[in-house]
Amino acid sequence: MSGSIVLFGPPGAGKGTQASIIVEITGKPQVSTGDMLRDAVARGTNLGAKAQNFMSQGLLVPDEIIIGLIEERLKSSDASDGVLFDGFPRTIPQAEALADITNVSAVISIEVPDEDIIERIVGRRMDPQTGEIFHITFRPPPSEISHRLIQRKDDTEETVRQRLSSYHKQTKPLGDWYQNLGLLIPVDGTGQIEEVRKSVAIAVSEL
Ligand code: AP5
Repeated sequence: MSGSIVLFGPPGAGKGTQASIIVEITGKPQVSTGDMLRDAVARGTNLGAKAQNFMSQGLLVPDEIIIGLIEERLKSSDASDGVLFDGFPRTIPQAEALADITNVSAVISIEVPDEDIIERIVGRRMDPQTGEIFHITFRPPPSEISHRLIQRKDDTEETVRQRLSSYHKQTKPLGDWYQNLGLLIPVDGTGQIEEVRKSVAIAVSEL
């Protein structure tokens, strides 16, 4: 399938968790703006320093920073047949800029109500060696690696509430925008991880 796929949804919906099945089916590389920004913060780059302040408060990083990051990323040879965007675009100006540089063929929207989000995010843990995402209740890690797992700095209840607020004000309208373009494919994200994975796999196989 030509073109890029967008994985859309609120913070903690399961975008990162479900990205792997889409990569497996389509062979497209995952491009996560959240991971790119965290990498820039960890490396202490100028871009990271600018982004950190917004991220720690649960606010969106300004569009021009994000669009520049994506323009650079799409120049890589592995992006020539399209990519899987995870967490991008998140505003209508970002989506408009994206439309100028690449073709989006589908937007998979993982739908989860706000009341499930806080528990999902506060319980999230990540393996820094592999990037694998776990949850203390919903996807417990194997005991031999649990000592090395980390919690994201923005995964506090207070920051999650701000991230949800940013999502409703700035990102949710983008879902309607993609729906009007006939690209939005809603997937129920409230079941167990494996159930959602099956629904995502069906949606992607039908593209
Ligand atoms: P980003 O890293 O993109 O964070 P996010 O959108 O808030 O999404 P998350 O990574 O929190 O959640 P997810 O949907 O991937 O869920 P996951 O699979 O991990 O962005 C971070 C920050 O960077 C933003 O706040 C912003 O400041 C900045 N930023 C990034 N992109 C930007 C952009 N384009 N524009 C401007 N600013 C930008 O799952 C969550 C947990 O739930 C895990 O523990 C998982 O195990 C569990 N889980 C998953 N599915 C299920 C299920 N079905 N049932 C039970 N538990 C589940």
